[in-house]
Amino acid sequence: MDARDLVRQARSVGSVNGLRAVRAAWRRARIDAQDLPRRGPERARVPGAADGADPLPGGGVVRFARSSLRVRVAVGGAVFCGWDSAEAEPSYALAEGCPEADTRAVIEPDKDGWRVVSERVTVLVSRHGAVEFRTPGGVLLRRDLPPRWWDPVAGPRDGGPRWVQRSETAADGAVFGLGGRAGGPRLGNGAYRLWNTDPGDAFGPGVDPLYITMPVQLVVADAGSHLVFHDNSFDGRVSLRDGEEGAGSGHDRPGGCELRMDGGPLRYWVIPGSPARILSAWTALTGRPALPPRWALGYQHGRWGFGTAEEVRRIAGGYRERGLPLAAMHLDIDHFDGHRVFTVDKERFPDLPGLARDLGADGVRLVSIIDPAVKLEPGNPVYDSGVAEDVFVRDARGRPVRGAVWPGEGLFPDFTDPRVRKWWGGLYAERLAQGFAGVWHDMNEPVSFAAFGETTLPRSARHALEGRGGDHREAHNVYALAMARAGYKGLSELRPEARPFMFSRSGWAGMQRYCGAWSGDVATGWQGLRASLSLVMGLGLCGVPYSGPDVGGFDGSPSPELYLRWLQMAAYFPLFRTHAAIDAGRREPWEFGPEVLGHASAVLRERERLMPYMYTLAHVAHRTGAPYVRPLWWNDPEDRKLRACEDAFLLGDALLVAPVMEHGSDLRSVRLPRGRWYDTATGEAYEGPGQVLVDAPLGRIPVLARAGAVLPVAGADGGVELEVWAPAAGRSGGGLLITDDGDGWAEPRTERFRARLVGSRTVVEREGAEEVGYVVRVRGDGG
Ligand code: GLC
Repeated sequence: MDARDLVRQARSVGSVNGLRAVRAAWRRARIDAQDLPRRGPERARVPGAADGADPLPGGGVVRFARSSLRVRVAVGGAVFCGWDSAEAEPSYALAEGCPEADTRAVIEPDKDGWRVVSERVTVLVSRHGAVEFRTPGGVLLRRDLPPRWWDPVAGPRDGGPRWVQRSETAADGAVFGLGGRAGGPRLGNGAYRLWNTDPGDAFGPGVDPLYITMPVQLVVADAGSHLVFHDNSFDGRVSLRDGEEGAGSGHDRPGGCELRMDGGPLRYWVIPGSPARILSAWTALTGRPALPPRWALGYQHGRWGFGTAEEVRRIAGGYRERGLPLAAMHLDIDHFDGHRVFTVDKERFPDLPGLARDLGADGVRLVSIIDPAVKLEPGNPVYDSGVAEDVFVRDARGRPVRGAVWPGEGLFPDFTDPRVRKWWGGLYAERLAQGFAGVWHDMNEPVSFAAFGETTLPRSARHALEGRGGDHREAHNVYALAMARAGYKGLSELRPEARPFMFSRSGWAGMQRYCGAWSGDVATGWQGLRASLSLVMGLGLCGVPYSGPDVGGFDGSPSPELYLRWLQMAAYFPLFRTHAAIDAGRREPWEFGPEVLGHASAVLRERERLMPYMYTLAHVAHRTGAPYVRPLWWNDPEDRKLRACEDAFLLGDALLVAPVMEHGSDLRSVRLPRGRWYDTATGEAYEGPGQVLVDAPLGRIPVLARAGAVLPVAGADGGVELEVWAPAAGRSGGGLLITDDGDGWAEPRTERFRARLVGSRTVVEREGAEEVGYVVRVRGDGG
């Protein structure tokens, strides 16, 4: 236990829930001591020598002395590899099961084994079980060395053997992903655990793991990029080691990755291609990101501890009186009756539907927190109905597993059971009746407070796992994903005309089908600001494009400067929400003095102006998996300087945002991808690739526009206008506008624009139309 754990535990012990946390920890330890199968003697195993291969659709199976490997290329180019007869299904990650095999890919003998050639990748399997993935041109993307298993001597046990797989990637490769990591976005040398975890305290870049872990790695290298996904939800550890180039000596040391899993199948997918292609194939496999309603791209305000309906009205009124845009207010656990989920404190929030109506008249929606644990209390209708329907997680002896969360002692629905998901989804009717327009899932790692040990359920707790049966070791990491599935389905059935709005603290590969994510309790401080950018970028590269941090940080009180810089950065994130702990300082823009208020108001108005662009990006993410917030190397993955750049990002194709991440700074050095970029504040043009210094006074952070970009923005009267940045000589440009009814399922309308230079004049055209049809404002051509 490190010092941090001690502090955390001392805190939780000192709190109201302290005694319960002690009890819950004892209980958890006792249950596992009794029921968690002990790891007895084990025997190590490697595949051994190959003795043949058989063709099967999309590739084939190679038989080894002590294992077998199925290689299957799917339509679209993703390659599945399954050892020990592992199949692609069942899987929590795959959206619609295993995609069809690409029957053009066949296995054939090769000089040292077998090969499967497909359009985008060649897979080579050696006689000892090493697997290489090469580009069609023969360049090595990744080499997986023969795996090693530890089989229990006493015979098979739940979850299967532990295993390890070591891999090599290009010496110059950079690794991204693994879910939401505070210390990225580029993941350096080190160990990263795969176990969704509430750090128990506000976190900064040094804290790992966090709420969302995923065995998804995006490896970007000169020779080509690829994504690798190990479809296994057990606890695991990824150790990464940077490669080293031998400066032309021919002695490169490849990048190294070691993956150790505590059980579960050794099966994985490899997707080669450009970053955009990879995200498209990845979200074709695991599901396209849900499209949030349009209003969810507006600025939102949450707080743990509004305390009363009057306070909610007061804050909303504060925005209204100052002419500040506000799309939603988020109610935290303090509006529940004694912290019980799906209830309302009638004294302090006597008429929630009325409150929702009044706020709604000003265009402000209400969003509700939802925690999974149900207070153990006969008479509590949710508890009673849960008991009647037999929905709660039990231990190996059949007793309900009791944990401790905000309302006190509670039980946990088993979302891995379709029956339970249906029951849970029905409960959202109560939220809709209260007037909520969206929900926010919290504490779903899942958390049970514990004075010592892990703050979650016992590992031996039983789960349905879709009828297969298994324990918490396998169910833990997919718990929040399955909860999201229940909520999404429930909301879609209860209110079929509206797209659900949902984001979640925890999740797993595929969560984007249902929801977005937020940072969780990011620490107030410059390091927290940095961590929040890392989280948003990392999640986007794992297929979860809609996310954002608690602006200003979760705990304590940000300085006016930090608050403003955070607001300025998050204004370019899809989820733009301020939120804070019950004992934290204020987060309203007017609480930081008139100067900050002036600048904050400019930030909020700029976000409003960018809404047509943001919403277009939401549609693009939904169609293609491309995140709104992208690393600078998105279009130039071979540019190593961009790969190393972690303090700026692209918003779609058109904008480059360089947040200020340090106290007292009013200048930013900004790394530019190739092409011409305009400082949107001054119109000054810069030529990339390269590095430039850009003014960043307190009132703004550098935002640059790509030459040729056509950005749909809201004009002064609210109608759409096109902001067009002059193309560089000899180049053209363009942009998109995607619109729909904002909240329903109607087919969206897509309009494409092209920008080109005629002489020195910028001309904009709409594809397939005589007229552009929008007011056009050209910038950057001096005119
Ligand atoms: C957790 C959440 C936080 C919320 C709090 C109370 O710490 O991460 O956002 O405010 O619980 O519900």
